[in-house]
Amino acid sequence: MAPEEPLVLGIESTAHTFGVGLATPSRILASVDYSYQPRAGGIHPREAAEHHSRVAGRALAEALAEAGVGVGDVDAVAVALGPGMGPCLRVGATLARYLAVRYSKPLVPVNHAVAHIEVARLTTGFRDPLVVYIAGGNTIITTFVEGRYRVFGETLDMPLGNCLDTFAREVGLGFPGTPRVEELAARGGRLLDLPYVVKGQDLQFSGLLTRALRLVREGERLEDVCYSLVETAYSMLVEVAERALALTGKREVTLTGGVARSRILCEKLERMAALHGAAFKPVEPRYAGDNGGMIAYTGALAYSAGVTIEVERSRVRPLWRLDQVDVPWRAGA
Ligand SMILES: Nc1ncnc2c1ncn2[C@@H]1O[C@H](COP(=O)(O)OP(=O)(O)O)[C@@H](O)[C@H]1O
Ligand SMILES: [Mg+2]
Repeated sequence: MAPEEPLVLGIESTAHTFGVGLATPSRILASVDYSYQPRAGGIHPREAAEHHSRVAGRALAEALAEAGVGVGDVDAVAVALGPGMGPCLRVGATLARYLAVRYSKPLVPVNHAVAHIEVARLTTGFRDPLVVYIAGGNTIITTFVEGRYRVFGETLDMPLGNCLDTFAREVGLGFPGTPRVEELAARGGRLLDLPYVVKGQDLQFSGLLTRALRLVREGERLEDVCYSLVETAYSMLVEVAERALALTGKREVTLTGGVARSRILCEKLERMAALHGAAFKPVEPRYAGDNGGMIAYTGALAYSAGVTIEVERSRVRPLWRLDQVDVPWRAGA
């Protein structure tokens, strides 16, 4: 670590994961992450928030120990203020405000989606990629243009990861759904007709989900339905990403978010990028899902560019959009 580099503590609590990380603007020193597992059904916001409150102290202590520092040693405290579930966000925000006040540290607001992008840039070494951000809660094609991450396509209804997770849950495959659906898809081979819904640059997955579930009820082989679901959903995504790449002329493509661990989606994006002479690399798997390290790292970039927020103004922002965030640390890029 260069001596002049700020050290930032970061807190993630937007959805199922509570994480604490420590980072500088050039690397992540620690990331300790605990995930809530729903007993049945999807994430219950209040139960997830209770989980976060239970593990918060432990995650904080373990992250500090991993980095070999105390709270007094950090230069700022960063927190993901959104987007996410209100009750979950408030746990992270409350801890961050407490630490900022108790230790007299500046507070740094971080947008969770921006953090998924920045950790992908860090771990791929890409400077200016087209970013495909796919998670349980998000489906966004984005890239940096004139000071912000602009959206070049997104879902109009449910996120792709949520579509696969819900399908998996309904047919009894358990959570997380995406890898389990992909395992079965590898044993399928018959492409069934599913709604392929691309509207301009935007996507819709709920019709696909409804139809796939109906095909299972009607007795189609589960392997074939999984295969068709994955092929259809990923092809929709790659189509939109390809147009965004052609339009923006970027030379690099990355995949970030929980679904970045998908081998099938990586292969499809890599082939598409190669057709345009662009390089493809996904985020490092350990930082694909939600984690405190990426919040600390993005907080360190933001803090270095002068971004802070007063505690009184640090309300959580459940609907905070990616393209509302100024990205001054990339100014001049
Ligand atoms: N090995 C894997 N391969 C593909 N997708 C995965 C894998 N493991 C988890 N996922 C998916 O990642 C998504 C969760 O992403 P994450 O970024 O952690 O959460 P969130 O969407 O809440 O921010 C879920 O949709 C899950 O199915
Ligand atoms: Mg996420």
